[in-house]
Amino acid sequence: MVEVLRLNLSRVVDESYNILIGFGLFDSIPADLKANPVGEKYAIITDSVLKDIYGRRLLEKFSEENIDACLIDFPAGEESKNISTVTHLVRRLLEHRVDRKSAIITLGGGVVGDVGGFTASIYMRGIPYIQVPTTLLAQVDSSIGGKTAVDMEEGKNLIGSFHQPKRVYIDPSLLKTLPRREYLSGLAEVVKYGVIQDRDLFEYLERNVEKIKNLDEEALLHIIRKSCMIKKEIVEEDPLEKNKRSILNYGHTPAHAIERLSCYKCLHGEAVSVGMRISGWIAVKKGFWRIDEWERQNKLLRSLGLPLKMDFNVDDLIEALYYDKKVEGGTLMFVLPKRIGEMFSINGRYKIPIREDEVRSFLLELNGNN
Ligand SMILES: NC(=O)c1ccc[n+]([C@@H]2O[C@H](COP(=O)([O-])OP(=O)(O)OC[C@H]3O[C@@H](n4cnc5c(N)ncnc54)[C@H](O)[C@@H]3O)[C@@H](O)[C@H]2O)c1
Ligand SMILES: [Zn+2]
Repeated sequence: MVEVLRLNLSRVVDESYNILIGFGLFDSIPADLKANPVGEKYAIITDSVLKDIYGRRLLEKFSEENIDACLIDFPAGEESKNISTVTHLVRRLLEHRVDRKSAIITLGGGVVGDVGGFTASIYMRGIPYIQVPTTLLAQVDSSIGGKTAVDMEEGKNLIGSFHQPKRVYIDPSLLKTLPRREYLSGLAEVVKYGVIQDRDLFEYLERNVEKIKNLDEEALLHIIRKSCMIKKEIVEEDPLEKNKRSILNYGHTPAHAIERLSCYKCLHGEAVSVGMRISGWIAVKKGFWRIDEWERQNKLLRSLGLPLKMDFNVDDLIEALYYDKKVEGGTLMFVLPKRIGEMFSINGRYKIPIREDEVRSFLLELNGNN
C-alpha cells in the first residue's frame, strides 16, 4: 500500500513593477520610497568607484528623509562578480541588521545589479530589491528583466536566478561621469534593439549619431525610453526565456566567446558589436538577411565608435562558442535577423541551429574579407 499525499502548489504571482525614467530623478529616490515604500530599511549595495561618486550622496538623501539606510561596497569590476563577493555582502548585510522586511538597492552598472540582485534573491531566502542603474548598459538592459548571476572561472553567469526588482529608477544624468569607452560600449545594446525589434529606433540612431555621442539630453532620453520599452515587452511576453526572449541575445553567442578569448579585456558592448557583425554574416550566408542591411548595421556600429573586428583564430572561437548557455544538445544555436526590426524564426522558434562546419566556413570567409 502506498499512500500519496499531494502538495498542491500552482503559483500565480504578480511581479509587475514600475520603471521610472527621468533626468535628476536620482536625488528624489528616498522621497519617492517614503511615499511608496519597498521595505522598512534600505541597504545600498554599490562598487568601490561609485561609493564616492553617488553612494554617499544617496545615503545622505535617505537620512534627510529620516529613512534607515546603510551603504555597502565591493571592489569595482567584473572580477568581483563571483560567489566570494556574495558571501562578503551577506556578512555586511548581517552586520547592518538587514532583515526580511528590508530591501536592497543596487546602485551601479551591470556588475552591481547582477551580484546585488543575486544576493537579494538568496539572502534570508530572498528579500526585495530596487535597481538604480548607472551605466548605459544597465539603464537600457541589465536592470530590467530580473536576471541575476555571478561568474565562475569556467564561464560567465553560471550561477544565478530569476529575481525581479520591485522598482527601477533610471536617471540618465548619472551617465555624465561614466567613462567614454563604457558609454559607447552600452550603445551596442541599443543598436541591438533596433535590429531585433524596432526599425524606427534603428533609423533614429542613424539620424542622430552625433547627438547621441555627445550625450544630448533629448536623444539620450529617447534611446533609453525606447530600449526599456522593447526589453520590457519582450520580458512580459517570455519572462523565463522559453523562446522570444532569446532574441535579446542577438550577437551574444559570438560576443561571449570573444569576451572569453580576450580574457574579458574587451568590454561587453564591444564584444556584442563584433558579435552582431558575425551573427549578421551567418544570417546573410544562410540567405535569411540581405547583405545591404548587414552592411547598414555595421556602418551604424562603426559610426557610433564601436569595433567591428577583433583578432581571433577561427578554431579557438568555435571552441569558445560551445561554452555558451545557448548550446543545446551539442548544437550551436544563433538568433539571426530577417530584416532590420525583425528576427528570423523557423516554426515560430527564434533559436536557429547552425552546423559547426557551416559556422567555420562562414567565419573563414569573413576573416578573409578583413
Ligand atoms: N542581468 C542582465 O540581464 C544583464 C544584461 C546585460 C549585461 N549584464 C552584465 O552586466 C555586466 C556589465 O555591466 P556594465 O557594463 O554596466 O559594467 P560595470 O558594472 O562593471 O561598470 C563599468 C565600470 O564603470 C563604473 N561606473 C559605473 N557607472 C558609473 C558612473 N555613472 N560614473 C562613473 N563610473 C561608473 C563602474 O564602477 C565600473 O568600473 C556584465 O557582468 C554582464 O554580464 C547583465
Ligand atoms: Zn548584452
